[in-house]
Parts: sequence; C-alpha cells; structure tokens
Amino acid sequence: MDYSFPRYLAAKQSIDDRSLNHTVWRMLLHELPPGPLDILEVGAGTGTMIDRLAARGMLSRGGRYTAIDADPAGIAEARMRLAAAELPVHLELMAIDVHDFVRRERKRRWDLLIAHAFLDLVNVPRLLPQLFALLRPGGLFYFTINFDGLTVLEPTVDPEFEQQVIDLYHRTMDERRVGGRPTGGSRAGRALLGQIPDAGGEILAAGSSDWIVMPHKEVYPDDEAYFLRHILYFFEGSLAGRSELDPARFAAWLARRRAQIDAGELVFIAHQLDLCGRVGEQWPVAGGQ
Ligand SMILES: C[S@@+](CC[C@H](N)C(=O)[O-])C[C@H]1O[C@@H](n2cnc3c(N)ncnc32)[C@H](O)[C@@H]1O
Repeated sequence: MDYSFPRYLAAKQSIDDRSLNHTVWRMLLHELPPGPLDILEVGAGTGTMIDRLAARGMLSRGGRYTAIDADPAGIAEARMRLAAAELPVHLELMAIDVHDFVRRERKRRWDLLIAHAFLDLVNVPRLLPQLFALLRPGGLFYFTINFDGLTVLEPTVDPEFEQQVIDLYHRTMDERRVGGRPTGGSRAGRALLGQIPDAGGEILAAGSSDWIVMPHKEVYPDDEAYFLRHILYFFEGSLAGRSELDPARFAAWLARRRAQIDAGELVFIAHQLDLCGRVGEQWPVAGGQ
C-alpha cells in the first residue's frame, strides 16, 4: 500500500471535525473581537483548519489568515487545494519552520493563534512565549487535538503484547527530540495546562477532543479506513527494529489489526485535549519575550 501524509491529513479531517470540543469552540467564538480577524496558524499541514473555519463561518468577517508549516509539500498541497476556494480572507501560506518564523517576525501581530495537532511536536516551554509574543495584547489562542496519553484499540488482540506495543509507542513520543530538546511527548495535552500560564496565557476553556474511529455496519465513513491503516503505519515505522519487541509477534499483531480494518471491525480511540484562552492586555509583560 502507498502511504501518503497529505492523504492521512485529509482522512483525519472528518475525525477531527466530530472530535473538536464544543465548549472550547463556543468559548473561542464568544471571546473573538468584532470585525476582521488576523489569524496565524502554525503547523497547518495541508490547510484543513482553513476549510473547517470557512465552513463554520468564522472567516466571513474578513481579515488575514497566515498558515505556516515546515513541510513544503503540505503548503504546496494547501495552495493547490485552496486556489479555487473564494475565501473571504487574504490567505498567506508559507513553508517555514516555526522557530525560524518566530525569529523572523519582529513587527506583525495577530488576533488569534491556532495550533491543531501540532504542539506535541515542539518544545512548548521554549516556543510558547515566542508564539504568544506574536499576539496583540489580549489576543486569543486555540490549541486543539493535543494528544494526551491514551491509545485504545478494540476488540482486544494479544492484550499483554499490545500493551507493550502501545507503551513503547508512547515512549517514542517521549524520546523525540527537536534541536536537542524534548518535545511535548505522549502527555502533551495535560502538560499544556501548566505550560500555558507559565508562558503568560490564561486558559478560558479546556475539554477533551478524543478521536473515536469506528465502523457503522462494518463500513468506516469517508476515508477513515485509510486513516486507521496510516495509524498502524505510524506504529510500524516507529517501532520496527525496537529490541523490546519480538519482531515476529509484532508483525503478526500488525497483520491481525490490518485484517480487522479490512473486515470493518477495528475501533480506535485516542485521548486528546482542546484549549482556548488569551494573553493579557498588558502583553508582552516587561521582561517578557
Ligand atoms: C500532525 S500534523 C498536523 C497538520 C495539520 N494541523 C492538521 O491537523 O491537518 C503536524 C504538522 O506540523 C508540521 N511541523 C512539525 N514540526 C514543525 C515545525 N518545527 N515548524 C513548522 N511546522 C512543523 C508538520 O510538517 C505537519 O504538517
């Protein structure tokens, strides 16, 4: 099978749509200032959040949407996909690493900062104050689909071995380093509850945004069977060759889980958190970033 990250992000879209936390979303809408909005999205991938916000009417007030991602292929896909869309905002798509972006942006400020399925991939204590410094005083943030330590696959297959697989998969997240620094890891969601205030932000709402992918009458909606295959591909890619796992048993486990997708039986759950809030009116504070 050919695996494609852009197709994975597209397949994830319907799952994210139903998983986003309603209370957090409503709080964000309630707090948005009137008039055109300048929005910055980091780690935007192929731009699916832009489709979502346009569909939910949030872009209709006009303004500017700046979407950045380190992967030029994702930005190229976003550019191609969104070229024909008549968006009511001025769209700026940039292939740039977020760390270079925060270093480069000295003057511009945004009303709303979005990070969707992204903050587990960076060193939050270091990056967040720099991201918050790109907000206007009183600016808002919306951080969604932050993985938070629980992966479940049903029905059970080889439970003892599977727990070992899942624990090791989470450990690969905890071991991930970017520029020598740890990233958000497998409990990135709950860590944000402390990291946001530490960086000068006030959390206004938080709630779970768990993914639950399951078939209806043995058929998965949209492209969600592909999404599940890609999740197993992530497992395979990050765990193949790990000395802790018996390779033959791991291959057999993957084969059984793949067969369950083909049969429309596999259920996948991942626990995640959404949060929204604001930085202070006095931001940036004296001595801050
Ligand atoms: C899990 S994907 C989520 C993409 C998109 N937000 C979505 O949900 O469809 C994470 C994205 O973060 C991007 N990324 C990872 N590290 C980055 C960095 N240091 N700077 C900018 N983008 C980065 C990846 O290229 C990828 O597109």
